[in-house]
Amino acid sequence: MIKSKNIKIGIVNQKGGVGKTTLTQNLACSLNNEHNKKVLAIDLDPQSSLTTCLGYNSDDLENTITKAIKKTINGEEIDIREYILKNKEGIYLIGSDILLTKIERALAPETMREFVLKRTLKGLEALNFDFILVDSPPFLSLISDNILTFVDSVLIPISPEFLSYKAFSIIAGSLKEIKDKTNPDLETIGIIFNQVDLRTFHHKNIMEYSKKTLGENIYIFNSIIRTNTLIRESQLKGQSILTYDPSSNGAKDFKAFVNEFLKITNLGGD
Ligand SMILES: Nc1ncnc2c1ncn2[C@@H]1O[C@H](COP(=O)(O)OP(=O)(O)OP(=O)(O)O)[C@@H](O)[C@H]1O
Ligand SMILES: [Mg+2]
Repeated sequence: MIKSKNIKIGIVNQKGGVGKTTLTQNLACSLNNEHNKKVLAIDLDPQSSLTTCLGYNSDDLENTITKAIKKTINGEEIDIREYILKNKEGIYLIGSDILLTKIERALAPETMREFVLKRTLKGLEALNFDFILVDSPPFLSLISDNILTFVDSVLIPISPEFLSYKAFSIIAGSLKEIKDKTNPDLETIGIIFNQVDLRTFHHKNIMEYSKKTLGENIYIFNSIIRTNTLIRESQLKGQSILTYDPSSNGAKDFKAFVNEFLKITNLGGD
């Protein structure tokens, strides 16, 4: 990757519950708190889990990504700064709300409909974030097409439980389609295993199997995120595991993952 500012990363997997939101939250927190990066997280899931995990109630938010997209569709200019919150850990956020479910229908008749998010967020370029991380919904849709058109690269969390060649080939297929259609430069950073229980032989097998089958074409992170119940607990408190319990396995795993991430992408900077 050549860019060093406004690096846009989508956290994607059409499978539900694999750790997209958890990865977005903790990557954001680690980059901000430990690596001194200015990070914006964008919630593009109508479930608003990321918004909640970062300490907000989506019902209380006036300016969400839904409103910003709607205004763009209506041809209104927006000042994107009015949509950005800063949470208690120092992470910037554009939140989502349940009304995002209705955006699909509004996007459908648009010309260049995959580019609406990119148009909505064009004002971010001037704000000089180091990283812009986009959390995505667990379904393929015009929203996910818009995310993949907007970002420079993707990270794919996978839970060993859910790994199947079929599920992965669906993601690979949608990435290829976007590269062919709307974002030829889209890169895949790699796959990160989450909710791993190393005591389970089954999981070890799956990891080895996936390294053999998927490893040739795609980077598989050596770091893994183990199952750690404190992660869920931290999220209920609207906090990252890194600040909630820095000595937990969850915090250690995320730190190791982020170091590997910065190393392989060459984005560590200093
Ligand atoms: N390593 C982990 N250890 C323990 N719990 C985890 C871990 N990773 C995620 N979880 C929990 O699993 C659930 C699903 O995780 P998460 O919400 O991050 O997945 P998701 O892919 O974003 O789901 P969705 O597709 O619904 O958006 C959450 O309750 C989260 O707290
Ligand atoms: Mg999620």
